[in-house]
Amino acid sequence: MDSNTAHPVADAPKTHSAARARAPQPPRALRKVLCLDDFERAAAAHLPRPLFGYIAGAAETNLSLRGNREAFDRYRFVPRVLVDISRRSTQRSVLGQAYSAPFGIAPLGLSALTAYRGDIVLALAAAQAGVPMIMSGSSLIRLEEVAAVNPQAWFQAYLPGDEPAITALIERVARAGFSTLVLTVDTPVAANRENNVRAGFSTPLRPTLRLAWDGATHLRWSLGTFARTILRHGMPHFENNYATRGAPILSPNIERDFSDRGHLNWRHFALIRKQWRGRLVVKGILSADDARAAREQGADAVIVSNHGGRQLDGAVSPLQVLADVVAACPGFPVMLDGGVRRGSDVLKALALGARFVFVGRPFAYAAAVAGHAGVSHAIHLLASEISRDMAMLGVNGLDELDPAKHLMRDRSLLI
Ligand code: FNR
Repeated sequence: MDSNTAHPVADAPKTHSAARARAPQPPRALRKVLCLDDFERAAAAHLPRPLFGYIAGAAETNLSLRGNREAFDRYRFVPRVLVDISRRSTQRSVLGQAYSAPFGIAPLGLSALTAYRGDIVLALAAAQAGVPMIMSGSSLIRLEEVAAVNPQAWFQAYLPGDEPAITALIERVARAGFSTLVLTVDTPVAANRENNVRAGFSTPLRPTLRLAWDGATHLRWSLGTFARTILRHGMPHFENNYATRGAPILSPNIERDFSDRGHLNWRHFALIRKQWRGRLVVKGILSADDARAAREQGADAVIVSNHGGRQLDGAVSPLQVLADVVAACPGFPVMLDGGVRRGSDVLKALALGARFVFVGRPFAYAAAVAGHAGVSHAIHLLASEISRDMAMLGVNGLDELDPAKHLMRDRSLLI
């Protein structure tokens, strides 16, 4: 008989009875959200056009954005049957920490503009579900506040251009109590996001008639997120790109400090490794040689990522290079993000050697349309899909996944 029973992520199905536990009822507004992609449709209606465009868009022709999804479609499963899967578990540990599911929330800039108190909402929902959340350095809430609600959160930094500023930022992150630092290294220059310009998005946002019209036609966001933020917390500023406060999010003339990062190199990474005593993760790796270099220079893990297709358009998809990176760094935690939307995507990445995966856009949409309940629902949907797919694949633990046994590359789809 076909079973549609979903499993609460917090107590991932370890026993037969837990596997049959009823799913918590999502709030009414979310009953029609049956998978992560449904959040995108809801967010497109809820968010003003520039903000939706900022989340949804990528760079130039969106080739890498599309490629990230297509890479998953090229693999199909070979399920094994009549395996007792009643004791299966979605648990996975990485960097010495056990999590209830093998995915987390990728760093998402401007979360507190797209959702009310966005970074805090993401951090809290992740903590409650037992999954990691990476706080973005391009955020509008002070990192100390997020560390206070979720001390297990990871912090992602964009490196400032000069050494004193790097040192000051790292000292601040350590003082706040973060123990995992993620360095994003795929942004030596700002990307060419034409679609953001076309959608009217910029940082800071410029107060124009068009922006006012977008606000007026999206009242739930304007009142429930923007006005509520200004009234309760004042005008949001970039709080965490540096040790000191940056530009406001709305201004007719202030320019953001995009000081040149083009000169940054592995020497700066070595400097950070010396200063940062916690776990250090490098995000934005696509080459096996760079993964090896990161490991040799003292990184504790890498995230294979093309930034959701938002940096170099035409960059390979993380899934395409995953197996090579894993082979180049035996025993080293290799994580992945980009295009993960289904439990089946998570299982494909894990089977190909990813220790863990991260999901970006769907969590931004979930926080925007329904705040904490939305993010919890999104985590629950993805964890339930993983558990159900494990059952149909015939595995009880994620370590059992084996590309030779469970995956087949669909040759008719190779390009
Ligand atoms: C991002 N991403 C990102 N990455 C990062 O290191 N720091 C950041 O501040 C941001 N900000 C950000 C904002 C938004 C709106 C998006 C959509 C993405 C990239 C992100 O962490 C991740 O690499 C991708 O989102 C993964 O791809 P998917 O899951 O969105 O397909």
